[in-house]
Amino acid sequence: MAKKKVLFTRGIHDFAQKDLRRRYDVTVHSGKMPMPRELLISSVAQADGLVCFPYDVIDKEVIDAAKNLKVISTYSVGYDHIDIKCAKSRGIRIGHTPKVLTNATADLAIILVLDLLRRVTEGDRIIRAGEWKEIYGPLDHLGVDIAGKTLGILGMGRIGVQTAKRAKAFGMNVIFHSRRKTSSRHGEYVSLAVLLKKSDVLSIHVPYTKETHEMIDLAKIQKMKKSAFIVNTARGRVVKESDLIAALRGGLIAGAGLDVFESEPISGVNELAKMPNVVLAPHIGSATAETRLEMTKIAVKNLDLGMAGKDPIYAVR
Ligand code: DGY
Repeated sequence: MAKKKVLFTRGIHDFAQKDLRRRYDVTVHSGKMPMPRELLISSVAQADGLVCFPYDVIDKEVIDAAKNLKVISTYSVGYDHIDIKCAKSRGIRIGHTPKVLTNATADLAIILVLDLLRRVTEGDRIIRAGEWKEIYGPLDHLGVDIAGKTLGILGMGRIGVQTAKRAKAFGMNVIFHSRRKTSSRHGEYVSLAVLLKKSDVLSIHVPYTKETHEMIDLAKIQKMKKSAFIVNTARGRVVKESDLIAALRGGLIAGAGLDVFESEPISGVNELAKMPNVVLAPHIGSATAETRLEMTKIAVKNLDLGMAGKDPIYAVR
């Protein structure tokens, strides 16, 4: 019997691909990233299973082309790049990789918080540019204390909770806002208005949806303290990037730590890359060896289950 076809829009760990080749007819895209749309559409037309990534837009046009598709297994916790309603209406199962990347992503959020408050990357840039000419005096390159500052968490899901726990270990006060009013032993629930007003650092952990699209815009940033920072490890388009740039330029906030952007990758000529009070990361929230290994295992398991007509272990419902 002919093997079922699986399309990977990019390679994952070798051991997993080798193993999958025993069971399926596997195609792994290795050219231009992300996979060019025309190629994605023509390749998915043959596929029974698809393993994709957050930058692959799996919309109605792609799903329409995928006449045999039984499962979409995304190598990410976020699934805003997939038209879930459309996929479901065609009986396609969808799996994602939550939980295993919670710690890695919360770590990165805290790294950005600490870096901004203590200006570590900024100092690194000063040294590398040959601009550290004199030993700093008592009032040079001052950051601010971490203990005692208020971390405002927007979106108290798994990653938000883990970020809160880490912040508390550093002596920060934690407040949070989420869609549903809820209580947490890791912080105090507040309205969005209070979150914006009181946060010394606003850390974003909401998924990207119609409701969270550009949720943080100029009007919201204007409600924040001028000394406050924004950290975003969720999705770029939750923040209106042009407004963020305007706010940073105008001194409406003190700085930003960003792992995600409106459109990725960004280049060194991006406005944000020219600002000393902005720390940038190339979308590496889940990028640890341990986490990526677990993500591979789950993405494969989700794929296998979907191919067998069963629900993925982490199914998007
Ligand atoms: C996710 O899992 O959604 C991350 O953003 C991908 O690195």
